[in-house]
Amino acid sequence: MPTEIIFATNNANKVKEIKAVTGNQLNILSLEEAGILIDIPEPHETLEDNASEKSNVIHQLTGKNCFSEDTGLEVEALNGAPGVKSARYAGDNRDFQMNIDLLLNNLLPHTNKSAQFRTVISLIWNNQQYLFEGICKGQITHQAKGLSGFGYDPVFIPDGSDKTFAEMNMDEKNQYSHRKKAMQQLLNFFHKNGII
Ligand code: IMP
Repeated sequence: MPTEIIFATNNANKVKEIKAVTGNQLNILSLEEAGILIDIPEPHETLEDNASEKSNVIHQLTGKNCFSEDTGLEVEALNGAPGVKSARYAGDNRDFQMNIDLLLNNLLPHTNKSAQFRTVISLIWNNQQYLFEGICKGQITHQAKGLSGFGYDPVFIPDGSDKTFAEMNMDEKNQYSHRKKAMQQLLNFFHKNGII
Protein backbone atom coordinates (compact mmCIF):
# COMPACT_ATOMS: atom_id res chain seq x y z
CA MET A 1 0.00 0.00 0.00
CA PRO A 2 1.50 3.38 -0.97
CA THR A 3 2.38 5.93 1.73
CA GLU A 4 -0.71 7.84 2.86
CA ILE A 5 -0.80 11.61 3.09
CA ILE A 6 -3.57 14.19 3.49
CA PHE A 7 -3.79 16.99 0.91
CA ALA A 8 -5.27 19.90 2.88
CA THR A 9 -7.57 21.33 0.23
CA ASN A 10 -11.26 21.41 -0.67
CA ASN A 11 -10.49 22.23 -4.31
CA ALA A 12 -11.39 19.14 -6.37
CA ASN A 13 -9.46 20.44 -9.41
CA LYS A 14 -6.25 20.72 -7.40
CA VAL A 15 -6.76 17.19 -6.05
CA LYS A 16 -7.21 15.78 -9.57
CA GLU A 17 -4.11 17.55 -10.87
CA ILE A 18 -1.94 16.44 -7.95
CA LYS A 19 -3.15 12.83 -8.11
CA ALA A 20 -2.32 12.77 -11.84
CA VAL A 21 1.25 13.84 -10.98
CA THR A 22 1.81 11.33 -8.17
CA GLY A 23 0.04 8.33 -9.78
CA ASN A 24 0.36 5.34 -7.47
CA GLN A 25 3.49 6.63 -5.71
CA LEU A 26 1.37 8.08 -2.89
CA ASN A 27 -2.09 7.48 -1.45
CA ILE A 28 -3.38 11.06 -1.38
CA LEU A 29 -6.50 11.81 0.66
CA SER A 30 -8.34 15.07 0.07
CA LEU A 31 -9.92 16.69 3.15
CA GLU A 32 -13.26 15.23 2.06
CA GLU A 33 -11.75 11.75 1.66
CA ALA A 34 -10.14 12.09 5.10
CA GLY A 35 -13.54 13.04 6.58
CA ILE A 36 -12.39 16.54 7.57
CA LEU A 37 -15.11 19.04 6.77
CA ILE A 38 -13.61 22.47 7.34
CA ASP A 39 -12.85 25.51 5.27
CA ILE A 40 -9.34 26.66 6.17
CA PRO A 41 -8.81 30.42 6.09
CA GLU A 42 -6.11 32.08 3.93
CA PRO A 43 -5.60 35.30 5.89
CA HIS A 44 -1.92 36.03 5.20
CA GLU A 45 0.05 38.30 2.86
CA THR A 46 2.23 35.61 1.29
CA LEU A 47 1.63 32.26 -0.41
CA GLU A 48 4.19 30.74 1.97
CA ASP A 49 2.28 31.86 5.08
CA ASN A 50 -1.10 30.72 3.72
CA ALA A 51 0.24 27.31 2.69
CA SER A 52 1.88 26.93 6.13
CA GLU A 53 -1.33 27.87 7.90
CA LYS A 54 -3.38 25.28 5.98
CA SER A 55 -0.94 22.42 6.63
CA ASN A 56 -0.50 23.38 10.29
CA VAL A 57 -4.25 23.56 10.93
CA ILE A 58 -4.73 20.05 9.52
CA HIS A 59 -1.68 18.66 11.29
CA GLN A 60 -2.85 20.04 14.64
CA LEU A 61 -6.30 18.59 14.04
CA THR A 62 -5.23 15.10 12.93
CA GLY A 63 -1.61 14.61 14.05
CA LYS A 64 -1.07 13.09 10.58
CA ASN A 65 1.38 13.79 7.78
CA CYS A 66 -0.11 16.28 5.36
CA PHE A 67 0.61 18.95 2.79
CA SER A 68 -1.17 21.99 1.45
CA GLU A 69 -0.59 24.44 -1.34
CA ASP A 70 -1.35 28.05 -2.08
CA THR A 71 -1.18 29.43 -5.61
CA GLY A 72 -1.17 32.95 -6.99
CA LEU A 73 -1.14 34.52 -10.44
CA GLU A 74 1.58 37.19 -10.47
CA VAL A 75 1.25 39.69 -13.33
CA GLU A 76 4.34 41.75 -14.14
CA ALA A 77 2.62 44.96 -15.33
CA LEU A 78 0.41 44.90 -12.22
CA ASN A 79 3.40 44.68 -9.87
CA GLY A 80 2.69 41.05 -8.99
CA ALA A 81 -1.08 41.42 -8.49
CA PRO A 82 -3.39 39.61 -8.00
CA GLY A 83 -0.75 37.34 -6.34
CA VAL A 84 -1.75 36.07 -2.93
CA LYS A 85 -5.16 37.76 -3.40
CA SER A 86 -5.90 35.79 -6.62
CA ALA A 87 -9.01 34.04 -5.28
CA ARG A 88 -10.59 37.26 -4.03
CA TYR A 89 -9.29 39.72 -6.64
CA ALA A 90 -12.77 41.01 -7.51
CA GLY A 91 -14.29 40.49 -4.06
CA ASP A 92 -14.98 38.05 -1.28
CA ASN A 93 -17.41 35.87 -3.24
CA ARG A 94 -14.45 34.32 -5.15
CA ASP A 95 -16.23 34.63 -8.51
CA PHE A 96 -13.91 33.36 -11.29
CA GLN A 97 -15.63 35.26 -14.08
CA MET A 98 -15.45 38.53 -12.15
CA ASN A 99 -11.79 37.90 -11.28
CA ILE A 100 -10.97 37.29 -14.95
CA ASP A 101 -12.94 40.33 -16.13
CA LEU A 102 -11.18 42.58 -13.62
CA LEU A 103 -7.76 41.20 -14.58
CA LEU A 104 -8.32 41.72 -18.34
CA ASN A 105 -9.68 45.18 -17.67
CA ASN A 106 -6.73 46.20 -15.49
CA LEU A 107 -4.31 44.91 -18.12
CA LEU A 108 -5.97 46.73 -21.05
CA PRO A 109 -3.63 49.77 -20.93
CA HIS A 110 -0.51 47.58 -20.70
CA THR A 111 1.33 45.96 -23.61
CA ASN A 112 3.37 43.80 -21.25
CA LYS A 113 1.16 40.76 -20.61
CA SER A 114 3.84 38.64 -18.89
CA ALA A 115 2.71 36.70 -15.84
CA GLN A 116 3.51 33.65 -13.81
CA PHE A 117 1.63 31.18 -11.69
CA ARG A 118 3.49 30.40 -8.48
CA THR A 119 2.60 27.49 -6.22
CA VAL A 120 4.00 27.01 -2.73
CA ILE A 121 3.55 23.61 -1.10
CA SER A 122 3.92 23.25 2.66
CA LEU A 123 4.63 19.68 3.72
CA ILE A 124 4.47 18.45 7.30
CA TRP A 125 6.29 15.16 7.53
CA ASN A 126 7.09 13.59 10.90
CA ASN A 127 6.29 16.88 12.66
CA GLN A 128 8.73 18.88 10.53
CA GLN A 129 7.75 21.47 7.96
CA TYR A 130 9.23 21.78 4.45
CA LEU A 131 8.40 24.27 1.66
CA PHE A 132 8.54 23.62 -2.09
CA GLU A 133 7.91 26.03 -4.97
CA GLY A 134 6.82 25.68 -8.59
CA ILE A 135 6.65 28.49 -11.17
CA CYS A 136 5.08 28.54 -14.63
CA LYS A 137 5.81 31.61 -16.75
CA GLY A 138 3.56 32.77 -19.57
CA GLN A 139 1.31 35.46 -21.00
CA ILE A 140 -2.17 36.76 -20.20
CA THR A 141 -4.46 36.63 -23.25
CA HIS A 142 -6.68 39.46 -24.54
CA GLN A 143 -9.77 37.34 -23.99
CA ALA A 144 -10.77 34.13 -22.26
CA LYS A 145 -10.43 30.91 -24.29
CA GLY A 146 -11.24 27.27 -23.48
CA LEU A 147 -13.50 25.45 -21.07
CA SER A 148 -11.23 23.08 -19.13
CA GLY A 149 -9.49 23.62 -15.82
CA PHE A 150 -10.43 26.31 -13.33
CA GLY A 151 -9.68 29.79 -12.05
CA TYR A 152 -7.55 31.89 -14.41
CA ASP A 153 -6.84 28.96 -16.80
CA PRO A 154 -8.82 30.52 -19.72
CA VAL A 155 -6.60 33.64 -19.80
CA PHE A 156 -3.13 32.12 -19.29
CA ILE A 157 -0.88 30.74 -22.05
CA PRO A 158 2.25 29.05 -20.67
CA ASP A 159 5.56 29.76 -22.44
CA GLY A 160 6.19 27.08 -25.08
CA SER A 161 2.51 26.67 -25.98
CA ASP A 162 -0.04 28.56 -28.06
CA LYS A 163 -3.02 27.30 -26.05
CA THR A 164 -4.46 28.57 -22.79
CA PHE A 165 -4.49 26.14 -19.87
CA ALA A 166 -8.28 25.94 -20.35
CA GLU A 167 -7.75 24.64 -23.92
CA MET A 168 -5.60 21.77 -22.62
CA ASN A 169 -6.54 18.51 -20.99
CA MET A 170 -5.07 17.83 -17.56
CA ASP A 171 -2.08 15.87 -18.85
CA GLU A 172 -1.16 18.71 -21.23
CA LYS A 173 -1.54 21.30 -18.44
CA ASN A 174 0.69 19.16 -16.24
CA GLN A 175 3.51 19.39 -18.80
CA TYR A 176 3.83 23.07 -17.87
CA SER A 177 2.08 23.50 -14.56
CA HIS A 178 3.39 25.36 -11.52
CA ARG A 179 1.52 22.89 -9.29
CA LYS A 180 3.14 19.91 -10.98
CA LYS A 181 6.61 21.45 -10.61
CA ALA A 182 6.07 22.11 -6.88
CA MET A 183 4.72 18.56 -6.41
CA GLN A 184 7.69 17.14 -8.29
CA GLN A 185 9.98 18.85 -5.74
CA LEU A 186 8.04 17.17 -2.93
CA LEU A 187 8.31 13.79 -4.68
CA ASN A 188 12.07 14.31 -5.18
CA PHE A 189 12.38 15.01 -1.43
CA PHE A 190 10.50 11.78 -0.65
CA HIS A 191 12.71 9.79 -3.05
CA LYS A 192 15.91 11.32 -1.69
CA ASN A 193 14.92 10.42 1.86
CA GLY A 194 13.75 6.89 1.02
CA ILE A 195 10.15 7.68 1.99
CA ILE A 196 8.81 6.36 -1.31
P1 IMP B 1 -5.83 29.27 -4.01
O1 IMP B 1 -4.49 28.65 -4.05
O2 IMP B 1 -6.91 28.25 -3.88
O3 IMP B 1 -5.93 30.36 -2.97
O4 IMP B 1 -6.07 29.92 -5.43
C1 IMP B 1 -5.95 31.28 -5.69
C2 IMP B 1 -6.68 31.67 -6.95
O5 IMP B 1 -5.92 31.30 -8.06
C3 IMP B 1 -8.05 31.05 -7.12
O6 IMP B 1 -8.89 31.98 -7.73
C4 IMP B 1 -7.79 29.89 -8.02
O7 IMP B 1 -8.91 29.59 -8.80
C5 IMP B 1 -6.66 30.42 -8.86
N1 IMP B 1 -5.79 29.32 -9.26
C6 IMP B 1 -5.06 28.51 -8.45
N2 IMP B 1 -4.42 27.58 -9.19
C7 IMP B 1 -4.76 27.82 -10.48
C8 IMP B 1 -4.43 27.17 -11.70
O8 IMP B 1 -3.70 26.16 -11.76
N3 IMP B 1 -4.98 27.70 -12.81
C9 IMP B 1 -5.79 28.79 -12.78
N4 IMP B 1 -6.15 29.43 -11.68
C10 IMP B 1 -5.63 28.94 -10.52
